[in-house]
Amino acid sequence: MRNYPEDVAGVDDERLVGQTALVTGSTSGIGRETALALGRLGAHVIVHGRDAEAGGEVVDTVEDAVNEGTAEFVRADFADPDDVAALADATRTIAAARDDPDDADGDAGGLDILVNNAGGYFRDAHLTDLGVEYTFHVNHLSPFQLTTDLLDDLAEDARVVTTASEAHRGDQIDLESVESIDGYSAWRAYQRSKLANLQFTAELARRLEERDDRSVTANCFHPGFVPGSGFLRDLPGPLSALGGVVDRLPFVTTPADGAATAVYLAVADEVATDSGRYYADMRPKQPSTPARDRHAQRRLWETSADLLEIDEPLPSRSEA
Ligand SMILES: NC(=O)c1ccc[n+]([C@@H]2O[C@H](COP(=O)([O-])OP(=O)(O)OC[C@H]3O[C@@H](n4cnc5c(N)ncnc54)[C@H](OP(=O)(O)O)[C@@H]3O)[C@@H](O)[C@H]2O)c1
Repeated sequence: MRNYPEDVAGVDDERLVGQTALVTGSTSGIGRETALALGRLGAHVIVHGRDAEAGGEVVDTVEDAVNEGTAEFVRADFADPDDVAALADATRTIAAARDDPDDADGDAGGLDILVNNAGGYFRDAHLTDLGVEYTFHVNHLSPFQLTTDLLDDLAEDARVVTTASEAHRGDQIDLESVESIDGYSAWRAYQRSKLANLQFTAELARRLEERDDRSVTANCFHPGFVPGSGFLRDLPGPLSALGGVVDRLPFVTTPADGAATAVYLAVADEVATDSGRYYADMRPKQPSTPARDRHAQRRLWETSADLLEIDEPLPSRSEA
């Protein structure tokens, strides 16, 4: 039986022809299923990851499907700010090239959908060349860099969707320690990065609302526990094979079901004006108290810009 995210999300009759979508981390797992769904709905999908062979397979699958969807792969390592800047440049070029000035319904013009999904759970402690703890850099800092770099290139009613997690509960972001790997715990680093995804979404939504004249929205979601993605690949030895086994158990979420809320937030009419929210199973969910802390959200935004040595994106009008 067909088990597509767009069916689960109830948006299988939507048509995205003329729209451009970037799905980061779409060479496998939840991102791959999201990219395939947006392609089936007719979008031009920019497939991203580091693995060019896997990216090529996703592009071929989109283009082989019986519909109008098209795709192309862009490689970028999210541990490297230069790669992220190059992905933003490539996205800008692709979206602009697809801009059709004669399109009367205004569908074309800019990036319509940005799904910040690339990321993972990383067992070993590293600092990136920027001197930032690897999990925080890949899971939060690079999505922050990419999104803010692309702000001017977003369509009038673009949607930014970020794959967060229920793992965000129970940790505080200690911004003093993101440049250290002393006492590293992979789980705590993962929790911190996912809390950052929620705080980033809330701050982005607020700044867009207050300081941007367009109708761009930003939301994030928990995909469920999806062991059949590549998520467990970094577990030691035999444990990394666990994913394929537990994926068959009835209570775990498949990558396609995990992608349903991403597709819902990216496409569904009923959430066209929702912004700054956290979803699970296509329903809003209350985030943890630290995730809702406005002071922490603002501090994360400012610290992220400082770490990347860029001007603060979407500053208040008096600072601009
Ligand atoms: N699986 C779960 O249970 C679960 C639960 C909650 C949230 N999530 C979140 O869901 C998202 C997707 O994870 P998944 O479960 O689908 O795992 P996955 O199958 O391992 O997919 C991860 C994707 O991220 C990309 N990626 C990883 N590190 C990267 C890097 N340094 N630079 C660029 N791309 C990178 C991978 O591409 P390449 O390999 O080609 O680089 C791949 O496409 C993550 O943000 C994860 O935190 C997962």
